[in-house]
Amino acid sequence: MVIVPIEIRAEQLGKSFGDHVVLSEIDLTIHSGEIVCIVGASGSGKTVLLDTLVGLIAPDSGRVLAADHNADSDADGQPPLRDLTTITERELDLVRLHWAVVFQRNALFSGTVRENLALWLREHTKLDQAEIDRRARASLEAVALDVADVLDKDRDELSGGMAKRVAIARAIACDPLVMFYDEPTTGLDPMVGSAMHDLIWRTHVAPPPAQGEGFAFRDLGFVRPRRTPSAKRTTIIVTHDRDLLRRLRPRVIMLHESRVCYDGPYARFGEPDCPPAQAYLQFMPVLHEREIQ
Ligand SMILES: Nc1ncnc2c1ncn2[C@@H]1O[C@H](COP(=O)(O)OP(=O)(O)O)[C@@H](O)[C@H]1O
Ligand SMILES: [Mg+2]
Repeated sequence: MVIVPIEIRAEQLGKSFGDHVVLSEIDLTIHSGEIVCIVGASGSGKTVLLDTLVGLIAPDSGRVLAADHNADSDADGQPPLRDLTTITERELDLVRLHWAVVFQRNALFSGTVRENLALWLREHTKLDQAEIDRRARASLEAVALDVADVLDKDRDELSGGMAKRVAIARAIACDPLVMFYDEPTTGLDPMVGSAMHDLIWRTHVAPPPAQGEGFAFRDLGFVRPRRTPSAKRTTIIVTHDRDLLRRLRPRVIMLHESRVCYDGPYARFGEPDCPPAQAYLQFMPVLHEREIQ
């Protein structure tokens, strides 16, 4: 039997703000290579869940375990799992070297597009300036931006759609093993949104470079050990873009009243055994429009 390694696991996660319970008893296991969409109404806790999975929010109860690709895997190919609730900041930074997060509000730094794309690569890898520049240009091309036009634009000169695409380009440039996206298509016009669906899919299925072609990390002093031909990318997306679900046909996890009310294939999402999912599918376009305003 082939054992698919675990990438990230949530166990009995709980999170409240004051007496407002946002997450309760959330259990999830996401395996290497999966593409997962987390859906739910506005305010249902999708962003809080994502931020908890990436270690930005500490849960009140339960824990998050994440694969540490800097350490050797066991005989089944499973990297050691680190508990993000007890890990040190330094260890968390090392786990995160293999992740990229596209935040809902993009989180671009002040400065130019070029600086936004280069900063992480310059600080964390041993890539030379020419290679960093090449990656920056290639990533901007991948998100269908005019490189010559945007490279030296300041963050504050970008439209909402351009800023979103730059944020995705910045993530791709880091060539992560795990991609997290929070509402990657919200606020984009349908044509650009549809190009983003394709880009998310292409990024998901593109094999990471083989051993030796990866980055050498300053922090680690050696090439990422996961850079083997069998390594697969994992993609976790918070969204309520119905077209994105249709395009990716992912595993769907739906949050409702602080709990997971559906966790299964897209093909079965909305079947009668999950009434909130039916209601959600019906109202999703309305919610989506509301978010854009
Ligand atoms: N830092 C915070 N302090 C207080 N309440 C918060 C905080 N972050 C999120 N919330 C609340 O938690 C709920 C879920 O938020 P969020 O995860 O952002 O929803 P969404 O599913 O739209 O992404 C909302 O009611 C929100 O107001
Ligand atoms: Mg959100």
